[in-house]
Amino acid sequence: MKSLAFLLSVAVSLASASAFAIDHDASDYIPAGASITLSRAETLSSLSLRGNGHSKPKKDNWGNAVEQDRKKITIRASKNDRDDISDDFLWAIKKANHGGLVHLQKGKKYVIGKKLDLSFLKDVYVKIDGELKFTNDIKYWQANNFYYPFQKSITFWVWGGKDIKIYGSGVLNGNGQAWWDGFSGAEILDPNNKYYRPILFLTDNATNVEVNGLHMKDSPCWTNFFVRSNNVVFDDVYISAVSTNVSSLPKNTDGFDSLNVNGLTVLNTRVNVGDDCFSPKPNTTNILVRNLWCNGTHGVSMGSIGQYPGVKDFISNALLENITLLNGENGARLKAWAGPNVGYGYISNITYRDIHVENTDHPIVLDQCYFNVNDTTCAQYPSKVNITDVKFLNVHGTSSGKQGRVVADLTCSPGATCNGIHLENINISSPKGSPPQVVCENIKGDIGIPCIPAAEADD
Ligand SMILES: *[C@@H]1O[C@H](CO)[C@@H](O)[C@H](O)[C@H]1NC(C)=O
Ligand SMILES: *[C@@H]1O[C@H](CO)[C@@H](O)[C@H](O)[C@H]1NC(C)=O
Ligand SMILES: *[C@@H]1O[C@H](CO)[C@@H](O)[C@H](O)[C@H]1NC(C)=O
Ligand SMILES: *[C@@H]1O[C@H](CO)[C@@H](O)[C@H](O)[C@H]1NC(C)=O
Ligand SMILES: *[C@@H]1O[C@H](CO)[C@@H](O)[C@H](O)[C@H]1NC(C)=O
Ligand SMILES: *[C@@H]1O[C@H](CO)[C@@H](O)[C@H](O)[C@H]1NC(C)=O
Ligand SMILES: *[C@@H]1O[C@H](CO)[C@@H](O)[C@H](O)[C@H]1NC(C)=O
Ligand SMILES: *[C@@H]1O[C@H](CO)[C@@H](O)[C@H](O)[C@H]1NC(C)=O
Ligand SMILES: *[C@@H]1O[C@H](CO)[C@@H](O)[C@H](O)[C@H]1NC(C)=O
Repeated sequence: MKSLAFLLSVAVSLASASAFAIDHDASDYIPAGASITLSRAETLSSLSLRGNGHSKPKKDNWGNAVEQDRKKITIRASKNDRDDISDDFLWAIKKANHGGLVHLQKGKKYVIGKKLDLSFLKDVYVKIDGELKFTNDIKYWQANNFYYPFQKSITFWVWGGKDIKIYGSGVLNGNGQAWWDGFSGAEILDPNNKYYRPILFLTDNATNVEVNGLHMKDSPCWTNFFVRSNNVVFDDVYISAVSTNVSSLPKNTDGFDSLNVNGLTVLNTRVNVGDDCFSPKPNTTNILVRNLWCNGTHGVSMGSIGQYPGVKDFISNALLENITLLNGENGARLKAWAGPNVGYGYISNITYRDIHVENTDHPIVLDQCYFNVNDTTCAQYPSKVNITDVKFLNVHGTSSGKQGRVVADLTCSPGATCNGIHLENINISSPKGSPPQVVCENIKGDIGIPCIPAAEADD
């Protein structure tokens, strides 16, 4: 045993010492400054030292090889912010696909200046300890991107396939300042807006995506968007968008958005952006958010859904717990469209639990007359999105006082189905005085705490 262990350690150090180890793929091109280090298993087999079968190799959550057992690919770093290494990065991803790992090293910067189609993945790790930064060549990106009709979204790159793990202590930098400066004064919902801005991270047709440890910085538009994907897990991520220019704030830099996604988990994450913190969009199911911290955001929102005529949307089975929301517009929120020419669907089985708010304009919001549909119109064209089985449990802290003493506003459209709405242990105070007020309109059944019609509220 002892001599085998000794041989093993020699073999492993041989492998890592020879940075340019031979790859078995004969037709091999290696870009300048890149390297491939064989995995332990490959090294052993090349030295005819297969394990004796006693030790079963460790596997990750998806049954794939762990980091130590992967072939490792590195590429050269960029010399400056215009030194585009996207070809090298694409080469590395292809090399690492099917069981390998791409490593972007600590203290180094890697600049991406070309759009990348990464939709072909199958079991790949990307370890980002350095900084992966996009160029801010607005002209290039507005002509070269991946376009999604949903809210006219564009992105630098698309990640798709199966078993994709992106992790490390590094930074994914969207270099958003120039984009925000250029967008200043414009509105994303303006139908004439043509100034599209890229999303920092987007998955499409992906199953099993894990993002761990990274700092996602300064996205030009939404930070994350998941499209027709399953089982997306974020853990220990920091998202920020901070402008150095007082006359152009980061806009629409949402933390998390999703469309047609089953299985979305966000754990132990901090979000410091001026828009939605976490806001799943149509057809998102099985959502778990735990230990999320949001500062200066538009809150943790289900929706909006039900916007497009003839289209069915739904959001169901969500648990959001231990959420801290500071200095923002909203805390826990659900929104569904009403009015003429809108869609239909449902929001059901949503639990907000252990929510802490501070200095928040609207700590609890249920709005079934979205977007800004007045009472008359909402009565004439009630929402066709049913909202059922929604719980707000243990919500405490302070509002900003912007809505007077109102700390919760639950507005359903007349005649529409809004039932099974339950509030419990709500302790939110307003700087505008006490007792705090809870507004409820058109909700079927008892909501668990006293509430008043909007007309009686003092905001
Ligand atoms: C989704 O990905 C799978 C492989 O993971 C592929 O077979 C399928 O064609 C893709 N679907 C679309 C619509 O791209
Ligand atoms: C700040 O943003 C404004 C509005 O877009 C722009 O006119 C100005 O040039 C920017 N300032 C700097 C220093 O980039
Ligand atoms: C709740 O989340 C905060 C981060 O916002 C974390 O520090 C704290 O440990 C979490 N509490 C529990 C009970 O997990
Ligand atoms: C929270 O956001 C405000 C601006 O909205 C900022 O001034 C403050 O520094 C942020 N707090 C933290 C802890 O990041
Ligand atoms: C949501 O799913 C339904 C099918 O149940 C589909 O008809 C609809 O187009 C989807 N909505 C969106 C916005 O993709
Ligand atoms: C409600 O959602 C939770 C996940 O948050 C899930 O565990 C539970 O099974 C769902 N209940 C129903 C009736 O679907
Ligand atoms: C909404 O609820 C009504 C009454 O229960 C039901 O008839 C309708 O099918 C529901 N709509 C959807 C999209 O689930
Ligand atoms: C409500 O909104 C409709 C449509 O925008 C508008 O025509 C109407 O004047 C509004 N009514 C009130 C009372 O504001
Ligand atoms: C409500 O919160 C305040 C502090 O914000 C606390 O002093 C008070 O005891 C709480 N009330 C209940 C009933 O928990």
